[in-house]
Amino acid sequence: MEVIIRSDAGAVSKGAAQYFKQQLEAKPASVLGLATGSTPVGLYRELIALYQARLLDFSRAASFNLDEYLGLPAAHPGSYHSFMKENLFSHINLPLENQHLPDGTSSDVPAHCISYEESIKSAGGIDLQLLGLGSDGHIGFNEPSSSLSSRTRIKTLTPRTISDNAQYFGGEENVPHHVITMGVGTIMEARQCVVLALGAKKAAAVAAMVEGPITASCPASILQMHPRCTLIIDEAAASALLRGDYYRWVYDNKPLWQKI
Ligand code: F6R
Repeated sequence: MEVIIRSDAGAVSKGAAQYFKQQLEAKPASVLGLATGSTPVGLYRELIALYQARLLDFSRAASFNLDEYLGLPAAHPGSYHSFMKENLFSHINLPLENQHLPDGTSSDVPAHCISYEESIKSAGGIDLQLLGLGSDGHIGFNEPSSSLSSRTRIKTLTPRTISDNAQYFGGEENVPHHVITMGVGTIMEARQCVVLALGAKKAAAVAAMVEGPITASCPASILQMHPRCTLIIDEAAASALLRGDYYRWVYDNKPLWQKI
């Protein structure tokens, strides 16, 4: 896993945007795996700015989001459909019919999960998967103890994740307890992963993901097995890493073409 430590959130977002730019330049019809939450908001602003400057074109791309709350209609302000529309989709030229998110109102959740997996497959698989990191080590909403080979399915959120996400629902009591999420196995099939983490609240999860054992207790740790995974974090999120200086040294000494 490549670990890139940047000074602050702005530098993390700018760096991550370069991965999307390179991907879309190399393959305009890329399949992008997208995430929600507070972490990617700065990256999405960068992507919008690049699009407005005509440096990015999403017209042939497709996207698949990691997850959605169960029971929330797309129009609910707390849904990830609404989040994506507000923070990215309504500002870029990614065709509506190419935007995919799990349907939180599906009447047959297991069948919907199977068809979500099939849609990813028939789109050609995910080229670049963006991931945030839960403070408990989750990716997507694969909470600790999730099978490391799991597929898209329903999951129950932990009390910690419910508390972390209460800000978006005006209190913990309003946060849905269930979600549909891509599985860890689904995520691992993406050709490339870019994981972002910001702030001291993520420091322990970052250290467990990068330097801990590979374990379902920290689902993100399976990314140590991914052939092409880059973690971009700010200094605060890097603060619990034992080998922080080593990762900085490696990055500083890379050939220019490998840097962001
Ligand atoms: C969101 C997702 C989650 C978040 C994670 C971090 O689609 O899949 O794994 O990335 O909970 O959330 P923030 O960025 O709000 O700290």
